[in-house]
Parts: sequence; C-alpha cells; structure tokens
Amino acid sequence: MKKKRVFLTRTLHDFALKELKKRYQIEIHSGKIPIPKIKLELKIKNIDGLICFPYDKIDKELIDAAKNLKVISTYSVGFDHIDTQYAKKKKIRVGYTPEVLTDATADLAFSLMIDVLRRVSEGDRIIRHGKWKQIYGAYDYVGTDLQGKTLGIFGLGRIGGTLAKRAKAFDMKIIYHNRKDVSKNKEKILGAKYVTFEKMITDSDIISIHVPHTKETNQLFDMKIFKKMKKTAFLINTARGKIINEKDLITALNKKIIAGAALDVYESEPISKNHPLIKIQNVVLAPHIGSSTDETRAKMAELTVKNLNLGINGKSPIYSVGY
Ligand code: DGY
Repeated sequence: MKKKRVFLTRTLHDFALKELKKRYQIEIHSGKIPIPKIKLELKIKNIDGLICFPYDKIDKELIDAAKNLKVISTYSVGFDHIDTQYAKKKKIRVGYTPEVLTDATADLAFSLMIDVLRRVSEGDRIIRHGKWKQIYGAYDYVGTDLQGKTLGIFGLGRIGGTLAKRAKAFDMKIIYHNRKDVSKNKEKILGAKYVTFEKMITDSDIISIHVPHTKETNQLFDMKIFKKMKKTAFLINTARGKIINEKDLITALNKKIIAGAALDVYESEPISKNHPLIKIQNVVLAPHIGSSTDETRAKMAELTVKNLNLGINGKSPIYSVGY
C-alpha cells in the first residue's frame, strides 16, 4: 500500500523523524524559515498530514489548496497561526501540544519576572559595556523585591496556575483574572484570589499574561491599560506578542508610565536590532524561548507525532482543537 504523505515545515528530533519515516513518506522543508507561503501552497496540495510551527500561517487559502489533508499537527501550544474554524469546516483535524510545555513556560515567565525586578540583564549589559564603576554607590543600582508583591495573573490556566505555584513559594500575593471559572479548590491550593480585570490591572505590582491571542485579547494591553497600572508595576508576556500594543508599551516604558517589562513574544518576530525596544533599559527581551528546553522540546516532538498519527487516521488527536 502506498504510504501516506507528510510534510514538515521544519525538522524535528531524530527519534520523531524515525517514527514518521516508518509510517509515511515524509518531506522536510530545509530552506528559509518560515517556509515561504508560495512553497507551502505547492507542498500542501498532495499531502495527508502537515507538521507546522507557530511562524507558519495556515490560512484559508492554504487550507483550500490542500486536497487530501487530514490533519495539521502544530508543534506549539498556541494555534492562533492556524484558521482552526476553517480547518474544522473542511474536516481537517488540528492537534497541538499543551501540558508538556507548561513547566518550561512558567519557569521562563518567573525567570523574566526576577530578571526585570532585580535588573539582572541590565546589569549584565552594564558590565559588558565597562560601566560597572558608574554604579558603585549603594543606591546607584537597586532593584525590587518579589516577596510581598502582588502578582496579577491574566489567565489562570495550565501555565498561569504553574506560575502561581512558583510565586507562592516566593511569598507573593496572587490575584488573577480568568475568562472561565476556576474551582475553589484550585484557588485554595494556589493561594490565588479572583478579581475583575480592572482590579487586576490597578492592584498588581506585576502582571503576567497567560491567555491565548484571540479577537478579544488582540492589542488588549494598550495605553489606556498602562495608564491604569501602578507606576511601579511590571508587565511580563510569554503568551503572544499581539496581546500587547507594542507601540503603546514602548511609550509607556520610555515615559515611565510603568516601571518595566519582560517579554518573550512580540507583535512581529523576530525583532531586528533596530527595534525601538532594544534601546530601552527597563525591559528584558527573550527570543521566544518559553518552551525551549531540551526535555520539553523532545516531549513536544513526541506529542506532535502522536497527534499527527491519530489525525491522519481520522481520529481525534490527543490534544485537539475543535474535534
Ligand atoms: C507555543 O508553543 O505556542 C510557544 O509559544 C512556543 O512556540
């Protein structure tokens, strides 16, 4: 029997490729990242399964070009790069990789928070630029304590909840806002208190974003919100860049409307060396590495393949968007 065809827009771990090769005829894009749309449009025509990554925009046009596609398996927890509604309409299953990257992403959010509050990366830049002597005085270079501060978690799902666990161990006060109800038991375990969105904005010393990018959250954090935040507050984003109006954030940081930010995600990635954020000292910038640990990436590869195997055979992926 002819093997089904699977296309990967980037390569995966060897063990995952081995597993795929046993079952399918596979092809891996090896050129420019992300794969140019025109190339993907050609490839998607005859394949049964697609393995893609967050930078590959899988829109209506691409889905329409696919004639045999049964499953799109994305190597990510986020799926805002895929028109999932349209895929569902076309009976194409969509698999994604939550759960396995929860700890790694919460760890990154927490490390960004410590970094920006204690000014670690900023200090690193000072040393590298030979300016240590300029901050010799006892009060020249001070950060902010985490202990006793109020952390506002926007989205108390898997990653937000895991961040709360870490924050609790650091004696922080945790408030949160969430679309869906969170059980009283979870609140109790995490020591987290539900507040309105407004109250989370005004009362938090640090806000960490853990919601998906949707029509509702698009550009939600804009100047109106920054002006309501405490002047001493910090904003952490490891979710999606488009949830923040970056232009407004840059103004808010430059004008000290808020105290600082730490970002792993941006409106458009990768950002260039001329990006205005790069000139700002009270911001920590990470290159979208929330899930990027050896162990986590291996688990994501395993899950991506499992999701593909199920979807290509007309079954629901382990983690499935829609059905
Ligand atoms: C995800 O999985 O969506 C993370 O942003 C890493 O790409």
